[in-house]
Amino acid sequence: MSSHVVAPARIDSTTTVPALEVKGLVKDFHSGGLFSRASVRALGGVDLAIRKGEIVALVGESGSGKSTLARCVARLEKPTSGRILLNGTDVLKRDRFQASREYRSQLQMVFQDPFGSLNPVHRIEHFLTRSLTLHGKAGNPAQLCSRLDGLMTTVGLTPDMLNSYPHELSGGQRQRVAIARALAVEPEVILADEPTSMLDVSVRIGILNLMRQLRDQQGISMLYITHDLASARYLADRIAVMFAGELVEEGESLDLLANPAHPYTRLLVSAVPDPARTGSYDPHERAALRTAVMESASCAFDGDPEQQCSATEPVRHRVGEPANQHWVRCHLYRPPAAAASHALSAEPLEPKLQIATEEPSTAESRTEKQAST
Ligand SMILES: Nc1ncnc2c1ncn2[C@@H]1O[C@H](COP(=O)(O)OP(=O)(O)OP(=O)(O)O)[C@@H](O)[C@H]1O
Ligand SMILES: [Mg+2]
Repeated sequence: MSSHVVAPARIDSTTTVPALEVKGLVKDFHSGGLFSRASVRALGGVDLAIRKGEIVALVGESGSGKSTLARCVARLEKPTSGRILLNGTDVLKRDRFQASREYRSQLQMVFQDPFGSLNPVHRIEHFLTRSLTLHGKAGNPAQLCSRLDGLMTTVGLTPDMLNSYPHELSGGQRQRVAIARALAVEPEVILADEPTSMLDVSVRIGILNLMRQLRDQQGISMLYITHDLASARYLADRIAVMFAGELVEEGESLDLLANPAHPYTRLLVSAVPDPARTGSYDPHERAALRTAVMESASCAFDGDPEQQCSATEPVRHRVGEPANQHWVRCHLYRPPAAAASHALSAEPLEPKLQIATEEPSTAESRTEKQAST
């Protein structure tokens, strides 16, 4: 694949089959030593779909299960249960060995540490040639040369850098090589696990722009894992928020950030510096909300045990217009019209422990049980 590859239109809304779909994905890790039967639930039944040519950002604090989700999807971890569909095909039903090479040619992962993912004893040419050869895309020597040059150009590097060793490149350049290696197999989906978090702020934007360009020009779908909501807003079409191994909110990026409906999302949003934010910002209130989030085994924002997620699993509520594909799973969510004086959208950037006090009327409630928008 080279820079001349022309892409399909960005998000392909003509097909109903997502490029990647995860259904009810559960992952339990064994914990507590050799003879222990204890386990820790890293993923508690995740449903997520990424359409062709779409970038979905997965955000959430450390330990919420973001990497576990990506590693399960990349088949680096075996899920405890659930389904993973690539273009509608259930990949877990296939034999692991048979599936692996074919699967990797469709789905690639880019990791956080660009240095750790490149063996320092090899030149850049080695990594790209190996990828092309393994997936049968090297062709004859002349074609190989042209593909190597094309890959370097696509990721914004010069072909003469093929002779360099990883330590001779900057962090940003190394991450570009890691992306070129992923592109060598012409994947349909890239899972990028915090690809910019170890890079200097000044080079992050370049990597984000490159990812954007790959989506726009080659129609590649991406799961972009990040702690950084600002970059998620910049890059992603949609944002999914993960809390304690579950997705609690998802929506079109700008809408979700402007109208965060889940207390946890509001906590994350409140931590993003925003010069345009109006109204008072109370650090004590934020600290209290943070403590409530961190101390609860599950999402227990409300004092009423009947309302806690551990007692009853919350259903999905649509937030706002259907076009925004925005939903939230929270017992405390009230549609704005039903709780005018406590409307979530009234002060979207100020977290409140007690969000709503009124019960919504049946007519006004827009509850959609487990409905995917
Ligand atoms: N191999 C493992 N064995 C046991 N527990 C694990 C393993 N990998 C992850 N976990 C646990 O699963 C949970 C989710 O971890 P994960 O790495 O997916 O979080 P994360 O959201 O990617 O965090 P970060 O933002 O820090 O990268 C954590 O509680 C973690 O301790
Ligand atoms: Mg992680």
